[in-house]
Amino acid sequence: MADQSSGQKVWRVGVAGLGTVGGGLLSFLAECPDFAPAGGRAVVTGICARSRSRARTVDTAAMTWFDDPVALAKSPDNDIFVELIGGSDGPAKAAVEAALALGKPVVTANKALIATHGAELAKLAEANGAPLLFEAAVMGGTPAVKILRESLVGEDVVSVSGILNGTCNYILTEMETKGSSFADVLAEAQRLGYAEADPSTDVGGFDAAHKITILAALAFGGAPNFAAAEIEGVDQVELEDIKLAHDLGYRIRLVASAVREGSGVAVRVHPALAPFGHPLAETRGALNALFIEGRRIGRIFIQGPGAGAGPTAAAVAADIADVMTLAKRPVFQSPASTLVPEPAISAADRISRVFIRLKVKDQPGVIAAVSETLAEAGVSIDGFLQKPSQGEGAVPIVLTTHATAESVVLEAVERIARLPAMLERPKLLRIARV
Ligand code: HSE
Repeated sequence: MADQSSGQKVWRVGVAGLGTVGGGLLSFLAECPDFAPAGGRAVVTGICARSRSRARTVDTAAMTWFDDPVALAKSPDNDIFVELIGGSDGPAKAAVEAALALGKPVVTANKALIATHGAELAKLAEANGAPLLFEAAVMGGTPAVKILRESLVGEDVVSVSGILNGTCNYILTEMETKGSSFADVLAEAQRLGYAEADPSTDVGGFDAAHKITILAALAFGGAPNFAAAEIEGVDQVELEDIKLAHDLGYRIRLVASAVREGSGVAVRVHPALAPFGHPLAETRGALNALFIEGRRIGRIFIQGPGAGAGPTAAAVAADIADVMTLAKRPVFQSPASTLVPEPAISAADRISRVFIRLKVKDQPGVIAAVSETLAEAGVSIDGFLQKPSQGEGAVPIVLTTHATAESVVLEAVERIARLPAMLERPKLLRIARV
């Protein structure tokens, strides 16, 4: 549609979901009316949210209200549909499908939707000639999606790994700096509005897994395969782990990684130790960070905000700009009709260095028995630390190993768990490979 006064093309935008990111987008477009990457203008004409009566930071009087996101997606009164509802299924998926089926460009920040249904949505988008863009789904305002899909399309990427959940990184950083428990830090983060009321998606590692699944598809040219991701969250990380890792020169981070190994891809999320001075160890608070490793280009490291109204709205706006400039690319790296999931690689074959935390009885021969068990399995100890007895004869011990097949270490740890001097189940954390 052309603006009568200026003759400029006006792109009419329908926005479903007016939470942090949707509110941020409305503010962005209100503050930057000249946002005109292709000489046209973007104007929000229709909105939809859970609560119509909630106060908004932007005057929405000129925007048409929709109770139903699918009706907004189908409305002929908008040219671009922006989905900021969230959730892998339900109204978000139905609305995105409705827009794409009509050939309407879709911009979304919904990582769960793309990680779970990305391949089928890409087919629908490409069959109908509609862009489906999701820069804001991964690392919020820090570019990652376009870097892999566009800037590195000529590169042979071998791994992507990093910190993709700000809530978990904030919790781990606060536990370390304040010496507080996981539960106390989480409660404080919720009080301050940093963590969701239901934090399970973040602390359970699922949010980071959605994001690394998307990056894996973009990096390796396959279809997103969320079902194959191996996921551990930060909810099992205790203050004792953080303190003892610190004593050995490490910080604990929730690391998401996707690595091409032979004919397949290993996608996983788990707490991991990064040595002091390493960029992941030095990524603090709610920041995100990502390493991309390519055969020709070597290593790239990016770090920045992974959430927040302003940064994430800027990423949504960048996708709107792609629609306005008529940028045309496959949704992932290759045409959707050719996308298949990469074969998943079993964790048992992976080679890792690990950190093992034990609580043992303070009696002769215990350390000898532990090191003998490891030696029999062919696991070589790299670092070792024994703390003074904590009363009642309980002694904390931590050790780090040299690189070994994970299946071998896990078996050795099972044998250690059965030693009579063990007071608790051994705790095992991996050391980051990047
Ligand atoms: N909840 C996410 C995080 C931000 O804490 O990083 C949105 O993906």
